[in-house]
Amino acid sequence: MLIMENFQAVKNEKAYQLLNSGGLIIVCTVSSEGIYNMAPIAWHCPVDYDKTTRLLFVSDLQHKTYANIIDTKKFVIALPSANQVEMVKELGSCSGHKVNKIEHLHLSTFESPVLKIALPLDCIAYLECNLHSVVMQETVGIVLGDVINAFGQKDAYKGRLLSENLNAKTIHHLGSNNFITTADKLL
Ligand SMILES: Cc1cc2nc3c(=O)[nH]c(=O)nc-3n(C[C@H](O)[C@H](O)[C@H](O)COP(=O)(O)O)c2cc1C
Repeated sequence: MLIMENFQAVKNEKAYQLLNSGGLIIVCTVSSEGIYNMAPIAWHCPVDYDKTTRLLFVSDLQHKTYANIIDTKKFVIALPSANQVEMVKELGSCSGHKVNKIEHLHLSTFESPVLKIALPLDCIAYLECNLHSVVMQETVGIVLGDVINAFGQKDAYKGRLLSENLNAKTIHHLGSNNFITTADKLL
């Protein structure tokens, strides 16, 4: 696939490096009927890297994202760049329970190589994950996934995120309508 030429592989046990800066993610899923969905998630974290990266994120139990993951046991994390903040806001303002967001927002997508889930174009990196487990809380599930395949844009990841470069700047959510991005490399 031509699009994949823009990426380099990220080792599964190093994929946590893509999340460690805390950049907001888009969780991409598919329903058991084959309808794709995407939702922004700010609350997430890597939890292990031996033998692969394990990560967690917090999802409201009402989200279509959550229902899709429970049904299919898989998802893909996309790491959007700062110039995709409007898409992030739009994806977070409607539910896949009510609309097909990809059609509704006219999003350009490509298919993830292993799990075959539609992904938004032009993100910094992508992590394909199998569901590991869910820790239930009252109204949310803490979803844990294991990375089975990860890849980053060649000019945005070289052994680490190149967060000081314009095309590798992640989005960080401060609550409400407040977003920031990464600044200079200190060390
Ligand atoms: C910037 C941003 C961050 C968000 N972070 C989270 C989060 O960490 N956990 C969560 O459950 N929902 C979060 N949301 C809300 C969901 O993305 C939103 O409700 C979305 O419409 C759910 O879509 P779905 O029903 O198709 O899964 C966030 C929304 C935005 C805009």
